[in-house]
Amino acid sequence: MDGTFNENDLSRVVDADKAHVWHHLIQHKPFETTDPRIIVEGKGMRVWDQNGKEWLDAVSGGVWTVNVGYGREEICKAVYDQLMKLCYFAQSAGSIPGSLFAEKLIDKMPGLSRVYYTNSGSEANEKAFKMVRQIAHKKYGGKKNKILYRDRDYHGSTLAAMSAGGQDERNAQYGPFAPGFVRVPHCMEYRKHELGLEHLSGREFGIAAANLIEEVILREGPDTVGALCLEPVTAGGGVIEAPEGYWERVQEICKQYDILLHIDEVVCGIGRTGTWFGYQHYGIKPDFVTMAKGVASGYAAIACMVTTEEVFEMFKDDASDPMNYFRDISTFGGCTAGPAAALVNMQIIEDEGLLENCTAMGDRMMANLKALQEKHAVIGDVRGKGLFLGAELVTDRDTKEPVDEKQAQAVVAEVGAQGVIIGVTNRSVPGKNNTLCFSPALIATAEDIDAITEAVDVALAKVFG
Ligand SMILES: Cc1ncc(COP(=O)(O)O)c(C=O)c1O
Repeated sequence: MDGTFNENDLSRVVDADKAHVWHHLIQHKPFETTDPRIIVEGKGMRVWDQNGKEWLDAVSGGVWTVNVGYGREEICKAVYDQLMKLCYFAQSAGSIPGSLFAEKLIDKMPGLSRVYYTNSGSEANEKAFKMVRQIAHKKYGGKKNKILYRDRDYHGSTLAAMSAGGQDERNAQYGPFAPGFVRVPHCMEYRKHELGLEHLSGREFGIAAANLIEEVILREGPDTVGALCLEPVTAGGGVIEAPEGYWERVQEICKQYDILLHIDEVVCGIGRTGTWFGYQHYGIKPDFVTMAKGVASGYAAIACMVTTEEVFEMFKDDASDPMNYFRDISTFGGCTAGPAAALVNMQIIEDEGLLENCTAMGDRMMANLKALQEKHAVIGDVRGKGLFLGAELVTDRDTKEPVDEKQAQAVVAEVGAQGVIIGVTNRSVPGKNNTLCFSPALIATAEDIDAITEAVDVALAKVFG
């Protein structure tokens, strides 16, 4: 085949895709008889597929990424200009956008001071894990090396990130995993019966849920635990916001046992919950913050591992020792397109007041979803923060028995039949892939929000009567 194709006839693209592309997180058998969806174009909140069909995207590119919406000329132009000037140089040297974005980012993150560039959320998390391990060697004879992670949280697809993975369906069949990762219980109030804490609520429950982490630390031995890695709001594990009192107690526990706190902002980072970072809602003072998806809204690949001056200092305290620095590299952490796009992305959020819009539209969407909960008994719980929301579907509100995941997927399909793309937790927690996920771009209007929830209303009526 020659290299040309007719833009009005994408059948060749579909054929090439079916013949050669292995898509992410999807069973390919159906593509023997149907075509995969190919997204061709995007503008604002909308995308168009290979058949010219228009979709309202309520999931920002499928996985909480395109926070400022599609077709932002100013980002594309900045990336073009930067690539023409300098596309790449290894990050052992600096770059103009790398320095400027680090400065702008740190300005939004009081208490933190150093940015380590890399190219995916998984990799950013691995950088923090490696630092924790190296600190254990430097300060604690290698002993304080365990990394705690939470049930239902996710930190990425690479093997060490999966070793910190609290979603058993993601992990199944990919073990054995790296040693030294230890799971702590989830903190989900809706399913507090699983924790034996059904007698508690509100702040009391939050403190008790955090105390379950302390129990694990005491069991493992505080002198063996180096870090605790948590999502500020759990994403793919079911859109779970920690209860009141939880974070305060988590901080106390970390301080008491000298444990570094690593907050994974890969989803919440850069505006998704109405603040720059999710942790900023809760007064948390993290030692590591990782971020990826929303940093440049998908216009270029960029991820960051941000830490404190105190951690940074530990890696340069003895320059005479040739092993005494962070001996790590990420080749594509040196791509300049990432920070060039990220600078403009952040500027857009500021100039257009998108944090405020996120909060206002998030409140609207939450109210709409709560109204749907009144109407449809199948919605057991509605939760989330800003434009990061979930609706958990159950067969019975008393027993909280999850609906069959096929039914949850049928809702997504029925919403899709109306031209709206929403998500559902997918191959995550066994038996609990039952939470519908909503994460429209931060530019969403009231009309967009209402269109999304109206489509859900129709779909729920169709699937559950
Ligand atoms: C909370 C969280 N952390 C880390 C990751 C991994 O990011 P990436 O796919 O860029 O490696 C994800 C991806 O969905 C995520 O949701």
